[in-house]
Amino acid sequence: MQDTSPPAVPKSKDTRLQLNDGTSIPCIGFGTWALKQTPEDVKVIANAVSAGYRLFDTAAYYKCEKTVGAGLKASGIAREELYITSKVWHADLAPELIRKSLNRSLEELQISWLDLLLIHWPRNPRDRNWKATLKKAWATFEQVKKEGLVKSIGVSNFLPHHLEELKGMTVPCVDQLEFHPGYIQQEAVDYCQSHHIVVEAWSPLGQRRLRDNEMLQSMAARYHRSLAQICLRFALQKGIVAIPKSANPERMRQNLEIFDFELDVEDMAAIEGMPPTAWSGEHPDTSAPG
Ligand code: A2P
Repeated sequence: MQDTSPPAVPKSKDTRLQLNDGTSIPCIGFGTWALKQTPEDVKVIANAVSAGYRLFDTAAYYKCEKTVGAGLKASGIAREELYITSKVWHADLAPELIRKSLNRSLEELQISWLDLLLIHWPRNPRDRNWKATLKKAWATFEQVKKEGLVKSIGVSNFLPHHLEELKGMTVPCVDQLEFHPGYIQQEAVDYCQSHHIVVEAWSPLGQRRLRDNEMLQSMAARYHRSLAQICLRFALQKGIVAIPKSANPERMRQNLEIFDFELDVEDMAAIEGMPPTAWSGEHPDTSAPG
């Protein structure tokens, strides 16, 4: 029988979760979507390093890898201490385009390897042959891993039926999904955790759409925490790696202060049972951002 219990709850921001390829990933990270190519945003990345983040999640599609690279360089931190993830967009899933995208990511990030490379979106909604495209793309991911350009390979926005298409090939290490109170994609999370695929949460705060939620507000008041900390602690206790974004140094720090309190069983269940809310509106089979 498969073990479906989530791993033990991490004790500090430096705790790492084991991946199925023998490597490990920090239990919380920093999201970079929406950063621009500006000196202010380079400073955001350097501030995030100072706040204590070591996992940085970016993507070719975000068009901010130069900013992330410059910020990490400016921070002076050693490459080995960082965990850097990037992604290949669905328009670039042909083998030669994957390599081009990866090389460009490495160049813009000013690094020679990635810790984790993800297929950003399982399919181009207009690609009728998406299953074949995906298999070929994944074979190229396996190859760039063998070549040492990336340490681990994973996927993003894959539901169980997309993951099933990779059966017989390398099991992805990670699936990065939209996950926050009000949109927890429990079926996909259960599938991943029972197949030893670590789930990462994009938009773990629901991109601020949860800020007026009365249940979360009252929970935050009861725990003497912010609503954002409740959302992040919820992900942590579900065994999920959250990658919140913030441009504000105080909120960056606040988002890492989630290791000294615990949501009780009733509150976890109450969040799990919330009616659908704060969904981004994106679905991997029918849409793609942008
Ligand atoms: P800001 O950059 O001003 O802090 P998500 O990670 O779910 O996409 O959400 C990101 C949004 O949440 C950003 O608008 C960010 O704004 C805001 N945010 C991040 N951390 C906090 C926090 N601790 N409290 C309130 N808002 C936050």
